[in-house]
Amino acid sequence: MLIYAKRADVMDQMELVAWSSTFSVGIKLIDDQHKELLKLTNDLFNHCIGDEEAEEAYFKSIIDGAVKYVKVHFATEEKIMLSTKFPGYMEHKREHDRFVLTVVQQVKDFEDGKKFILASFTRFLKDWILTHIAVMDKQYFQYFKKLATKKNDGRLTINRADIERSTAG
Ligand SMILES: [Fe+2]
Ligand SMILES: [Fe+2]
Repeated sequence: MLIYAKRADVMDQMELVAWSSTFSVGIKLIDDQHKELLKLTNDLFNHCIGDEEAEEAYFKSIIDGAVKYVKVHFATEEKIMLSTKFPGYMEHKREHDRFVLTVVQQVKDFEDGKKFILASFTRFLKDWILTHIAVMDKQYFQYFKKLATKKNDGRLTINRADIERSTAG
C-alpha cells in the first residue's frame, strides 16, 4: 500500500518562486508588495497537498484577503503611474483589470461548486505575476529611471519639475 504524505509536511515551506533582485522595480514600496504577492503564491503552493477538501478550505480562507491585497497593489502602481504621467498607464491598467476579472471569475466558479484545482490556480497566479512584473512593471521602472534626477541629498527621486520636464514639448 502506498502512503501519500502531505507535501507541506515533507518539504516544509517550499518556495515555488523565490524573490530575487532581478524582480526589483526600484521602488521599495512596490518591491515589498511584489514580495508579498510571491509569498502568497508560495503559501498556495504549499497547500497543494492533493487533498481536495483541505485545498478548498484553504482557498476559501485566504482568497478574499488575497484579492483585496492584489487590488491595493494595483491601485498603488496605478497611482504612481498616473502622478508621473507614465504614457503606458492605460495599457497597464487594462492588464490589471483583466487579471482581477479573471480571478474574480475563478472565485465565482469555485463558489458555484465548479471543479477547482488549487495547483492549477497557483500555476496561473505564478505565471501571471512573474510575467507581469518582468514585462509591464519593468516598463514603468524604465520610464521612472529616465525621469528621476539625482537630488541634492544624492537620492534618485522624481519631483514635479522632473515630470514637467519630461512632458514638455
Ligand atoms: Fe506589480
Ligand atoms: Fe502592474
